[in-house]
Amino acid sequence: MDVERFAMLVGERLRRPRRNERRSRGERLADALEALVRSGDLLPETRLPSERALGVALGVSRGTVASALDQLAAEGLVERRHGSGTYVRAVEATDPRGEDAGPVGAAAEPVGAGAVPEPIFRRWLREGTVVVDLAKSVVPDASLLPRLDLAVEDLLDVHPADGYGHLGDDRLRELLAVEAAPGTAPPERLLVTSGAQQGLHLVADALLEPGDRVLVEEVTYPGMLAAVARFGGVPVAVPSDRHGFLPDAFADAVARHRPVFAFAMPVHNPTGAVAAERRMRALAAAARDGGTLLVEDRTLADLVLPPHTGPAPSAAPYAPEATVCVGSLSKTLWGGLRVGWVVAPEPVFGRLAEAKQRADLASSALDQRLAVALLADPDAQARRAAWRAELAVRRDHLSGLLAERLPDWSWSDPIGGMSLWVRLGRRGKAAGAADGEEFAELARRHGVAVSPGAVFGPPGSTAVADRIRLSYGWPEPVLSEAVTLLARAWAAYAAGGTARG
Ligand SMILES: Cc1ncc(COP(=O)(O)O)c(C=O)c1O
Repeated sequence: MDVERFAMLVGERLRRPRRNERRSRGERLADALEALVRSGDLLPETRLPSERALGVALGVSRGTVASALDQLAAEGLVERRHGSGTYVRAVEATDPRGEDAGPVGAAAEPVGAGAVPEPIFRRWLREGTVVVDLAKSVVPDASLLPRLDLAVEDLLDVHPADGYGHLGDDRLRELLAVEAAPGTAPPERLLVTSGAQQGLHLVADALLEPGDRVLVEEVTYPGMLAAVARFGGVPVAVPSDRHGFLPDAFADAVARHRPVFAFAMPVHNPTGAVAAERRMRALAAAARDGGTLLVEDRTLADLVLPPHTGPAPSAAPYAPEATVCVGSLSKTLWGGLRVGWVVAPEPVFGRLAEAKQRADLASSALDQRLAVALLADPDAQARRAAWRAELAVRRDHLSGLLAERLPDWSWSDPIGGMSLWVRLGRRGKAAGAADGEEFAELARRHGVAVSPGAVFGPPGSTAVADRIRLSYGWPEPVLSEAVTLLARAWAAYAAGGTARG
């Protein structure tokens, strides 16, 4: 392992000295190294960098490093091999966060028969020692935001003035109604949420009783699956293609399963497919005629990338009484704003508003006030177009590098969104299909986080096991570094390596 990466791993674990700290530098360094070995972040037989190089990288003396390594050797965690270096020994891995102990609170939660595999979702979210995080499908920083000339007093000028706008800040609701879908999203039926994820959660809270069915695609967004599971809903996968649910299969499933709602994404996470207008119209009619609701997640709808043009179509104009739209500023401005929305027909809107109050009474008035100022930016549309153009460049950069360096992998070029949905293919010539979860775990050990395909599959889905999702929202140098690490991880995986060695 190269010394910079090693020093970074150690640095993450190194405690700052407390006041009146008795433990020496060497002891604190030994603690950090021990944590790395015990957590499994350092695999057995990993050769540590030399004492001198490590001392330079960590800014400590060679003697301090030597004393830390001696302590570890005495505890049997590393082995000093004369003339060859210091190697990690195999130890029983302990997981200080305890994620592998099984689903926390599973017994107490009314999870339906085909519940989402929650432990995977949690493991996917586990903080790791990653250098590059392609698991996060996010705007990397706040640089898309315009500069604002705002004083604290301006930020405190909220509507209503008590800061508890249960449905949201009045001015923001007007602006988001335009953002959501001009003409079909009246502000009085728009509820401001803390990001789209809360929108999905509120939909599940407001609509589901344990055992209720929800139609989803065979590959879908895990945040919706988690919310459905949380309220005891049972996801039912319906065949779909790159334009969305297949209309006949959808109509049959509505008649057969009597779902409370169906979940669709006009720009799909993880595949990046963009739904066809005709398809949305057909789904709207099938939902209305079948007495169910279509929950349309428009979080990525404004990210149809050049040369294609958006925004992605909506079912709402065709069946406003049967469509609930969820949206967010997270992917077009910045996720840190935590501003999203839900637009719904009555009586669903009232139930959503009650669920919002049960959840947190109201979204932060300051975040909303900031969002009002950001949305008023006169260059908002031009900035957004520039972001789409940049995302297209990043997408093409990642696909180009993967095509060159990882020829076993395949994917359909995404038309929108922020991620590639990659099929890993076969693991080496003789072996069977690769496993996305196994590979994701190994890749993490190589310093790059990816999302295993399994989290995007409703229970029983066979379409996800050999997949991973890679986010391309990151700047090109980050993506290049990620591909180098992925290529190394894939070579190790194809040669029979696993995360556990
Ligand atoms: C389809 C979809 N829905 C919801 C969310 C959650 O977004 P937010 O940050 O607005 O909660 C995301 C984020 O990646 C998403 O891709």
